[in-house]
Amino acid sequence: MSRYFIWTIGCQMNKAESQRIASYLNSVGYQIAVALQEAELVVLNTCVVRQSAEDKVLGTLGLLKGLKKERPNLSILVTGCFVDSNIEGLERRFPQVDFFFKPGAYSELASWVQKRSISTTEQELLRSPSMEFTPSKGLTASARRNDTGKPLLSSPCAFVPIIQGCNNFCSYCIVPYRRGREVSRPLEEIVCEVKALVKQGIKEVTLLGQNVDSYGHELPSNPDLADLLTELNGIDDIARIRFLTNHPKDLNQKLMGAMASLDKVCEHMELPVQSGDDDILRAMKRGYSVEQYCELVHAVRQRISQLSLSTDIIVGFPEETEEQFEHSLSLLEKIKFDVVHVAAYSPRPGTVAWRKYKDSVSPEIKKERLSRVEQLQANIATEINSTCQGRIMEVLVEGKKRGKWYGRTRSDKLLFFEESNECSGQLVKIKIEKSSPWALQGKVEYSS
Ligand code: SAH
Ligand code: SF4
Ligand code: F3S
Repeated sequence: MSRYFIWTIGCQMNKAESQRIASYLNSVGYQIAVALQEAELVVLNTCVVRQSAEDKVLGTLGLLKGLKKERPNLSILVTGCFVDSNIEGLERRFPQVDFFFKPGAYSELASWVQKRSISTTEQELLRSPSMEFTPSKGLTASARRNDTGKPLLSSPCAFVPIIQGCNNFCSYCIVPYRRGREVSRPLEEIVCEVKALVKQGIKEVTLLGQNVDSYGHELPSNPDLADLLTELNGIDDIARIRFLTNHPKDLNQKLMGAMASLDKVCEHMELPVQSGDDDILRAMKRGYSVEQYCELVHAVRQRISQLSLSTDIIVGFPEETEEQFEHSLSLLEKIKFDVVHVAAYSPRPGTVAWRKYKDSVSPEIKKERLSRVEQLQANIATEINSTCQGRIMEVLVEGKKRGKWYGRTRSDKLLFFEESNECSGQLVKIKIEKSSPWALQGKVEYSS
């Protein structure tokens, strides 16, 4: 019996793909290892969105090289956005790696695993694969695994990719180069998968794509995200549906209408703005102005009351002046996002920004801008979250941490509470008593 360990770096898409790899390995007789040291097979799922993520990948590959010296039988597989088209080059640079496969190339993974099984005389594993595996469709996730592949028996949440790749080519971004062009999964296939997940006990699904607003445009019957949400909303026993990420240039009225009318679709949206300055937005090739973004937010907020809104901001884009940076701060003050993911610009080889501009903002200034955004946002989030105090909010309980149950509200806020009864996987009503910029705390509200 071989044991595997999945090491995931990167975004939710990678986490979803790691869940799928784990399900596949389970189905062909592998067992999850509790710790890296116990594994005979390690899958490293990688991210290169910024240099810091790539450095983490390189560090982990170094660590695995050491481990392989001690245990030559260890198999190392690498997938994710680190894997570019030059696989031979990667093989030369990283001889410790047994197999590289591109994100989502599950049929290649399957043939490699089958070959390994034969060479390790584990043929009996091949005779009874219990899992449905159609290379053209990819793998179906089985629920309840977290990003390290560890069984998470209580988690009622699952990620479901609906569209792969990206056609946008924002000037700073490496994702389209590593993930390729947009490919949507057929609507029926997604509905089937969600039904199967619900049978396994899943109560909340998060639909994933780099740009979920593009969903379906290249499929024969042209379904869109609103159509998909309508279908999923009709599935019994699913309690919540989320999706990310939206693109401000593509978000439309039909989707807003679906969000407003479908009861299971949560009041939360990730709408990355990236900058509050028009010249920077143009250089980023985002396809909208600050004014258009603000109008869009206004329209969504009018349709969906209680909407919680997250965004992404890049500071220190090439030639960003103090004044242009301050435009981003003003936008944060104006919109008052619930959550802001902020990152310092990192030049990515091969992108338009990397070719065209010098990385002109110094690391010190980037760091200073990062902390100014964080400070401002901490104040805004403190203010927003304090308005939750006294309210009753529903939480879907994901597990227990340091003696407290935790989960997320429909608005995607992290919430902690104490309760002696088992609460895992349940929807519980909580009266909010305390708040911080990052989380809420409260007590179970027993209905009389
Ligand atoms: N598709 C999404 C997000 C993709 S990448 C969107 O359109 O926004 C996730 C986030 O990483 C981005 O929103 C951006 O803020 C950040 N990011 C991407 N490339 C970056 C780079 N070169 N430097 C710094 N941050 C970057
Ligand atoms: Fe990258 Fe832009 Fe595509 Fe998002 S929309 S993945 S930022 S290219
Ligand atoms: Fe990273 Fe690729 Fe996701 S670069 S952010 S793992 S799409």
